[in-house]
Amino acid sequence: MASKPPFCLAHPQDIPADLALGEPLLSRDYLLDGELRTWTGAMQEVHAPVFVEGSKDPERQLLGSCPAHAPSTGQEALTAACTAWDQGLGDWPNLPPEARMACVEDFCLRMNAKRTEIVRLMIWEICKSRKESEQEFDRTIEYIEDTLCELRRMLSEDSHTVKASRIDAQIGHSPLGVVLCMGPFNFPLNETLATLIPALLMGNTAVVKLPRIGRMLFFPLMDCFHKAFPRGVVNILSGGIETVTPAMTSGKVDVLAFIGTSRAAQAMHALHPHPNRLRCVLGLEAKNAAIILPDADLVEVVAEILRGAFGFNGQRCTAIKLIFVARSIADAFLERFCAAVAGLKIGLPWEQGVNITPLPEPGKVQFLDALRADALAKGARELTPNGGPMSARPDETFFAPSVLYPVTPHMRLFREEQFGPIAPVAVFDEPTEVLRAIAASDYGQQASVFGSDPVQLADLSQRLRNLVSRVNINCKCQRGPDELPFTARRDSAVGTLSVRDGLLAFSLPTLAVVRDKPTSKPVLQALDDLRAMP
Ligand code: G3H
Repeated sequence: MASKPPFCLAHPQDIPADLALGEPLLSRDYLLDGELRTWTGAMQEVHAPVFVEGSKDPERQLLGSCPAHAPSTGQEALTAACTAWDQGLGDWPNLPPEARMACVEDFCLRMNAKRTEIVRLMIWEICKSRKESEQEFDRTIEYIEDTLCELRRMLSEDSHTVKASRIDAQIGHSPLGVVLCMGPFNFPLNETLATLIPALLMGNTAVVKLPRIGRMLFFPLMDCFHKAFPRGVVNILSGGIETVTPAMTSGKVDVLAFIGTSRAAQAMHALHPHPNRLRCVLGLEAKNAAIILPDADLVEVVAEILRGAFGFNGQRCTAIKLIFVARSIADAFLERFCAAVAGLKIGLPWEQGVNITPLPEPGKVQFLDALRADALAKGARELTPNGGPMSARPDETFFAPSVLYPVTPHMRLFREEQFGPIAPVAVFDEPTEVLRAIAASDYGQQASVFGSDPVQLADLSQRLRNLVSRVNINCKCQRGPDELPFTARRDSAVGTLSVRDGLLAFSLPTLAVVRDKPTSKPVLQALDDLRAMP
């Protein structure tokens, strides 16, 4: 290892007291079949992307260790979830929805009490700034509460009998079965629970495999899940993909809820022996473009794109990952944009006003540097003074924000998702060039369009809606608010999530019907009474 200190070096005296690290956490707990068990097998060390000053040649800070669950444990977890589901005849799928909602409410209360600890672990393990970590926690609680409200609304809508021809139908939403739930490192709490909670509320049972990075924060939650849910309904494991491979090959997983790369999603899907039986709810990579028209307000554009491209270091699936600027205003835009990028504060996640923090994925700085080198070799220029890796150490985790221009179609950054603090800028003469480039992309999540002519904005956004799923007019790309449908085309997603769509994604519309004749009335009444049961 190189002896020059890494840039991402924390001085112990600068670490706020409430974030100070004690002894590394030895988290052997896992939840299986309603028991909080203690793992005695192989463990995996978890490191922060931060080095703490102290030793001669410091290493990434050790946060603790957690189970590297074996594939056989994955199978045990699957068996527990299958038993709780019991082919749809188990207690949990047959509980009145109100009873399942009470469990989720109980879980939410317990989770809220762990806010400080969860936020602290998130800050350390994924280096999300304190403010953004708190926002992720609060937004997750809000998501759960809103989902509970939405389910109440759905149940009251379902309570009306529908008449069609001479048929009376009682329509409802029934669960799908066993869900394998895997969240990502960038929103480990939010995106894991944004699939798990609706899945449970609808009566499914689950095996959760914790994210590869961003998993320590789940250990304080184990007890909350254990106390709030009945036996076998939620089973929580940590480990690599091999932990859940046999679960997939068994064919007993009914729903794959996965947020990550399309390559990993395809590999998981291919393991299932009956792919037609597997419902997929997938959130995958994206290459969201910003289109800056000649009449755009550059002050507004710069502020939005700065946050859109560099929020949490660009590690958002919704980040702006390619900027198309009209040739006539390219110089004016770049001058203002680069000045704003130069003002971004690089630092550790607990620093006041920090914008750019260490990147948690091993090898990420090298990956970004290779994308940057490819663009530079093919004719792009680096427009920010120190853009790129902050030191030559192979274990460096800081990458200073980079603006590369002009980026052209034969460069990797034109097509590949960087998921990091690089803003590639391309130039265009006619908006149709941009539409064609977006149409040719493997990805189709969102786009942003900046301009002032309402007719042109409306026309462009109308055409963009056939290429992506959401067009943000004069504002950055983003997922929220969570009442709105969050989905995408091509390799960017399968299924739709939102407070309501999440409930629909993990259920099937089912109905009981009777013919319109006098003897049917008591049956209809009995069906209604059953639904009204607390
Ligand atoms: O990485 C994907 C997240 O869901 C993005 O959420 O757009 O609200 O930051 P956000």
